[in-house]
Amino acid sequence: MPTSTDARPVLDEAPTTESFRTAVLTGLQKTQKRIPSKFLYDERGSELFDRICELDEYYPTRTEMGIMRRNIDAMAETIGPRTRLVEYGSGSSLKTRILLDHLEDLASYVPVDISKDHLAAAADALAEDYPAIPVQPVCADYTTSFELPDPPLPAACTVAYYPGSTIGNFRRDDARAFLERVARTVGEDGGLLIGVDLKKDVDVLKAAYDDSEGVTAAFTKNLLRRMNRELDATFDLEAFEHQVVWNADRGCIESHLRSTTAQTVSVAGETVEFEEGETIHTEDSHKYTLDGFAALANKAGFEVSRVWTDDRSYFSVQYCTVGA
Ligand SMILES: C[S@@+](CC[C@H](N)C(=O)[O-])C[C@H]1O[C@@H](n2cnc3c(N)ncnc32)[C@H](O)[C@@H]1O
Repeated sequence: MPTSTDARPVLDEAPTTESFRTAVLTGLQKTQKRIPSKFLYDERGSELFDRICELDEYYPTRTEMGIMRRNIDAMAETIGPRTRLVEYGSGSSLKTRILLDHLEDLASYVPVDISKDHLAAAADALAEDYPAIPVQPVCADYTTSFELPDPPLPAACTVAYYPGSTIGNFRRDDARAFLERVARTVGEDGGLLIGVDLKKDVDVLKAAYDDSEGVTAAFTKNLLRRMNRELDATFDLEAFEHQVVWNADRGCIESHLRSTTAQTVSVAGETVEFEEGETIHTEDSHKYTLDGFAALANKAGFEVSRVWTDDRSYFSVQYCTVGA
């Protein structure tokens, strides 16, 4: 039976500082400067994300939790017994607890996350609270290929869990490529339970990504702090501001760090120039219609078999199986 110390990452493939350096220097040379959103999540970034989830304006977490609680019996029946549950971008695994409380005879729970210390702490807590469930954390970048650990006893199937509408952080082509990989991982016996945020009033969306307390701003600016610490960068946090833009053509909220002045910054020994008003694009949060997500899932080899939503149709939790 696993103990809390068993829950340290069984696989540690966290991105190296070198890969962070390469991604940052490449991204800051582009005409529209951009840094992949996965680098927002160091230990402090993960903690700030947890605080975002508690904000009034951040409807996705509350709404998704409500959908999960109201429909958990149907979800558990759909998923079935003796499953290996693999969660991509597990964070603090809070929503997962609803599943762990209801799934029958789980073969194992495999939380996968890029933020190593946060993952280890969340896995430790789960291993302690669910001593009968083998918890096998994997620290990896899920946009790359990595091995999943076998459960201690054979599983009936593998089901992927991808909540939080983290799928929205991918551009559509990358979302398709990611879902294709997930489809190959779970195979025809398995499935995917996924949280997908839906299109809605733009003001509601903008408030969710630019809250009045400034927590989302701190989350985005933490990327500057991380570059200062890990890449010897000289970003002045006061000289950048968090900015969100609704991009109607792409159906997504874009988060940016906007330079409030013309300035020169040193990053890993390189010089980077900013004009006043120039931005670093840090995150996309794509919003879907139910039909739009179904079309994406189909292209990736999945069929949506169940859809659960809330009264306002703000958010959806969907179960997908691999098409024959
Ligand atoms: C939006 S948060 C969602 C957290 C949690 N699943 C939830 O629903 O509240 C995204 C999570 O995915 C992780 N993440 C982001 N990009 C990742 C990547 N490329 N590989 C692995 N984990 C990633 C982050 O560290 C973070 O925990």
